[in-house]
Amino acid sequence: MTEWLGRIDLSPINGRDRVPNCDFDMTNTIPHFDAFGLALREIRAEDAHSWFDYLRIPEVVRLNSWNVSAVEDMQAIIEKMSANAVNRPLRFALAATATDRLVGTIGFHSLSIENASAEIAYDLAPEYWRQGIMSAACEPLIRWGFDALQLNRIQGCAMVGNHASARILEKNGFRLEGVLREFRVARGRPSDFRVYSRLRSD
Ligand SMILES: CC(C)(COP(=O)(O)OP(=O)(O)OC[C@H]1O[C@@H](n2cnc3c(N)ncnc32)[C@H](O)[C@@H]1OP(=O)(O)O)[C@@H](O)C(=O)NCCC(=O)NCCS
Repeated sequence: MTEWLGRIDLSPINGRDRVPNCDFDMTNTIPHFDAFGLALREIRAEDAHSWFDYLRIPEVVRLNSWNVSAVEDMQAIIEKMSANAVNRPLRFALAATATDRLVGTIGFHSLSIENASAEIAYDLAPEYWRQGIMSAACEPLIRWGFDALQLNRIQGCAMVGNHASARILEKNGFRLEGVLREFRVARGRPSDFRVYSRLRSD
């Protein structure tokens, strides 16, 4: 693990010489996205309310395995992401440039430094849906994953029936690998997910 991290050189991005041994400071290593009046930035503790504001809407969580029932759940998730630990989820806020309010998120979870792989994930407040925002926000994150994190494989899992999520992956060059049967529990039910991947060499 240490050896792999030692090979990542983030200096062109954040001015640091090297990634420290078993953790790295990603403060200034953020993928660049600035379009549709939205920009990517780090997620902060105070974003918990804005994030929960749309994740509490049944339509938003109908076709995924989000399972949060209170703003405190979001606070715990943000705390976990902020801990400087290897393999922690790396998630960014899509914030309105005019107000700085979080209206979406995108990032990697199930990050495995050892295997140079991660799973992409995203969500957006419904008033922003169907404008092409998430399709466009994926590429900078994917590039950053391959270049800055030196990932080799990025996978995406879309619950069967989540056409928007599957379409985003297809449009971003992901290949369908198959169906993971009863892969995640969604609303209390083990549910099937289509797994897609994009390799560095694709
Ligand atoms: C999935 C989600 C992020 C899509 O974001 P978005 O910015 O609206 O997506 P885009 O506008 O880029 O659309 C991508 C494609 O999906 C299609 N699409 C969007 N919403 C759709 C819907 N509700 N039903 C069917 N297709 C849909 C679009 O038409 C587009 O396809 P096209 O280019 O062939 O026309 C958003 O619907 C969301 O937050 N859903 C809840 C959270 C979630 O399920 N996340 C994915 C699990 S990781």
